[in-house]
Amino acid sequence: MNLIATSLTSESQKQYESPFKDWDESSWIRSKPLREVSFSGLLFRPELTPLAWHPKISKEPDLYKAILAYRLLENIQLTSLIELNYVNPICHDLVQEKTVINLTKEQRLDALKIYCDEGGHSLVMEWFVQQVETISGLNHKVLEQPHFELNFQKLVDAEYNLSPNLIKLFMTTILETLYVEAYSAIPQDERIAPAVRAVIEDHITDENKHDIYFRGIFTLLWNSLSELKKEQVGQLLPKMVRTFLEPDQIAAHNILQYLGFSTVDSDRILEEIYVPEKITQNIRRAAKPALKMFEESGVFSISSVKQGFENYQFIA
Ligand SMILES: [Fe+2]
Ligand SMILES: [Fe+2]
Repeated sequence: MNLIATSLTSESQKQYESPFKDWDESSWIRSKPLREVSFSGLLFRPELTPLAWHPKISKEPDLYKAILAYRLLENIQLTSLIELNYVNPICHDLVQEKTVINLTKEQRLDALKIYCDEGGHSLVMEWFVQQVETISGLNHKVLEQPHFELNFQKLVDAEYNLSPNLIKLFMTTILETLYVEAYSAIPQDERIAPAVRAVIEDHITDENKHDIYFRGIFTLLWNSLSELKKEQVGQLLPKMVRTFLEPDQIAAHNILQYLGFSTVDSDRILEEIYVPEKITQNIRRAAKPALKMFEESGVFSISSVKQGFENYQFIA
C-alpha cells in the first residue's frame, strides 16, 4: 500500500455502510437453485430487442421468437464477459489493494462477495445458455466477439495520459451501475418465459448491491484524482458510456444472416432500425444511472468535462 493511498482513507470510508449485511440469505450463489429453462413464453423483452421491431421480423412468429432468443444469448454473453473480464479482475485489485484508493476491511470483504456473486452468475448463465441452445437449436457462436470489447480496447489504446488499469476501473464502476435499471421490467413481464424472468430477478437482487458498492468506489476514485487527471478521465467518461451502450450491429447482422437474410436485406433492416438520432436517444435514456452517479460525485462541476458530455448529447 502506498502513502497516497493511505492518505486517502477518509472519515466517510470509516462510516462505510455495507450493502451486503444479508448476503448469506439473499445472494444467488449462496441461497438459490439453478433454473430449468422451458419455452413457455418469449425468451427476451421485445422492447429491448430492436431487431424484433422490424416488420419483416415482427410479422413472422418463428423468426420473432428466434430473434428474441438470440437477444437473450447476446445479453448473457456480454454480461458474462463483463463479470469475468472486468468486475472480477477489478475486485481482485480492490481486495489486494492494487488501486489508488484505500479500502476498509469491510469494503475489501465486500469486494470478495461481489467476486463470488459474479462467478456464480457466470456459472448459472453458462448453464442457462447450454439449455437454450439444446432446446432451440440456436448457436451463440453466431454472435462472435461482443463489439463492446473491441471498441473498449481501441479506446484504451488511444489514451496516452491514463493507465489501462485506471480506465478499466472507471469502466467497471459504470458497467455496474447500468444493469439493474436496464432489465428491471423483465421480472414483471408476463410474456417472458418464467425461467428467464426468475434468472434476471435473481441477478438484479445481487446487482442492486453491486450498484451501491461501485457508486461508492466511483466517488472515492474520482476524489483521489488530481485536477489534471479529473479533466483527462472526465473527457473519457462519455466515450466509455457510449462505447458500452451502442447497439452491437455486427452481432445483429450475423444473426440476420444466420436466420436466412441476404447481406443486402440484412443491411437494409439495420439501416431502418438503427437511425442515428434514435440510437442517441436510447443511449441517453439507458445512461441515466451513470449520469446520476457522475452528477453526485461533482463530475459536471468541471466545465470542460461538462462540455464533453454535451458534445456526446448526454446532457443539454
Ligand atoms: Fe452479475
Ligand atoms: Fe455485478
